[in-house]
Amino acid sequence: MLTKAENERLTRVGPGTPGGELLRRYWQPVAIASELSAEKPKQRVTVLGEELVIFRDQQGNYGCLAEHCAHRGASLYYGFVEDCGLRCATTAGGTLPPTASAWSSRSSRAAAPTRIA
Ligand code: FES
Repeated sequence: MLTKAENERLTRVGPGTPGGELLRRYWQPVAIASELSAEKPKQRVTVLGEELVIFRDQQGNYGCLAEHCAHRGASLYYGFVEDCGLRCATTAGGTLPPTASAWSSRSSRAAAPTRIA
């Protein structure tokens, strides 16, 4: 029988937890590629306690970003899928390419939108 502390250590998977740090070292399935189409190119998912937006850009590349923009926290779910990424819906919105920020508690929050010419 696990103690309460052992149970907490093994079952918590959010950012900064031992279980979460372990699981973030491995690829995690978050969706089925066929769920993202030209008609519905974005989807919200919650994985390991993190709110994410997965998308397919107009070139067919897949991306996964923290849902809330690093600039002012706008939801990227309401962003615009463009030729080479997802653009934040705010007026200051830059385009985040699919490769700009692989999902992880470390990298996704560090990526600020950048304009791509
Ligand atoms: S909130 Fe996204 S660019 Fe400002």
